[in-house]
Amino acid sequence: MSEPSGILIKGGQVVNDDCSVISDVYMENGKIVEVGLDLRIPGGARVIDATDKLVMPGGIDTHTHMELEFMGTRAVDDFYIGTKAALAGGTTMILDFVIPEKGKSLLEAYDCWRSKADPKVCCDYSLHVAVTWWSDQVKKEMQTLAEEKGVNSFKMFMAYKDVFMLKDSELYAAFSHCKEAGAIAQVHAENGDLIAEGAKKMLSLGITGPEGHELCRPEEVEAEATQRAITIAHAVNCPLYVVHVMSKSAAKVVSNARRDGRVVFGEPIAAALGTDGTHCWHKDWAHAAGFVMGPPLRPDPSTPGYLMDLLANDDLSLTGTDNCTFSVCQKALGKDNFTKIPNGVNGVEDRMSVIWEKGVHSGKMDENRFVAVTSSNAAKIFNFYPQKGRIARNSDADVVIWDPKMTRRISAKTHHQAVDYNIFEGMECHGVPVVTISRGKVVYEEGRLTVPAGHGRFIHRKPFSEYVYKRIRQRDQVGKPTAVERKPYEGKVISV
Ligand code: URP
Ligand code: ZN
Ligand code: ZN
Ligand code: ZN
Repeated sequence: MSEPSGILIKGGQVVNDDCSVISDVYMENGKIVEVGLDLRIPGGARVIDATDKLVMPGGIDTHTHMELEFMGTRAVDDFYIGTKAALAGGTTMILDFVIPEKGKSLLEAYDCWRSKADPKVCCDYSLHVAVTWWSDQVKKEMQTLAEEKGVNSFKMFMAYKDVFMLKDSELYAAFSHCKEAGAIAQVHAENGDLIAEGAKKMLSLGITGPEGHELCRPEEVEAEATQRAITIAHAVNCPLYVVHVMSKSAAKVVSNARRDGRVVFGEPIAAALGTDGTHCWHKDWAHAAGFVMGPPLRPDPSTPGYLMDLLANDDLSLTGTDNCTFSVCQKALGKDNFTKIPNGVNGVEDRMSVIWEKGVHSGKMDENRFVAVTSSNAAKIFNFYPQKGRIARNSDADVVIWDPKMTRRISAKTHHQAVDYNIFEGMECHGVPVVTISRGKVVYEEGRLTVPAGHGRFIHRKPFSEYVYKRIRQRDQVGKPTAVERKPYEGKVISV
């Protein structure tokens, strides 16, 4: 039976990042047409009763790596399975990363990602592009990507030495060009040289298991790089976005920088908010390896609660997942050497529930802040607000109907992802997505997904997001250093 085009969601509490109000929502042809009470709607529209439920913007996952070829293998969640799983968890858009090899064209890599993703995605998506080397060609291609290809964010790696890592002078050049292009500079902030040395040291001590991954890159390795990236970005007055903030030390650096007035945003991920790195010390190798990702999940068990406090207080700004999934047999590439364990964990399906449980159910944040950190802030920073991240007339009809009283237990046995384990295994979560609507269609309901491959669309993002660039532009105007006017020096000068 074909879906009637109009959908009326009735009697729910509509939650945006600035208010919650009981209201009906009518949508048609992929857009929200009206929000209010006693709406007049055309006959034939489907009515969904949302009494005692919340009606929120669909989640936006700012950080995924679907089918990424990485560390000798390929992530098992592809753009089809991964985006279907996202929808089952109430997420209606992902931002994935194009990661060209060093020396390769950014534009060709972008085209390659588009051709993989476009036919498969079940929800809308957009792309960040990584800058893994520096040249005039890269500079030109960044400009083209920003002006013509809908990319306004570029990720630079300070780790993965000899693979993706840039040196400081290249970071300076890349950040400067992000600013010229009106893009946001993103960093993977870890000191790659120290990691390489630390890894050699751990192996020489006979530490070959997953715990070696964290031991060779303790918190200060992340915090130092975070501070360095902030310093370089400030030197060129470029907005900075720190992806996967994993430690208390790095989070404090971001938070202090924000308090010092820097235009910097920190992105904690579901993994770091919902679990911790103690698992990497587990006696069962496969269990321990499942939690290996970079920067590492930290063994300090107070980390998730601390990151959540900072997220609630706006010291950290929004959430992604870094969903980059490798099954146990792939992780086993590193069974005798932790440096060969493919880095990455799951999250795209469970992010919304984990953040509701640890953030809202715990009382750290209200439902409005939940919307801010799961969708609105992403849309504002990456420049597609209020097209997404808001329940309002003319916004995209990407909606999740959320039952805050219902609970579910996360398990690899029931998840929709391709990966064969789940880092949140056994976690009971209050807050369950009961209906997900993507592009105005019900795609998930009563535990069933009904969405074809290619249902999603690429979201073109323009440069110079006002939310980010207003302050940057003004600072450029008023903050220009000026020379002191003085008479020329006319005294003696030594001869050399
Ligand atoms: O472990 C991770 N984070 N894998 C994906 C690559 C990255 O650095 O984001
Ligand atoms: Zn990274
Ligand atoms: Zn464990
Ligand atoms: Zn990542």
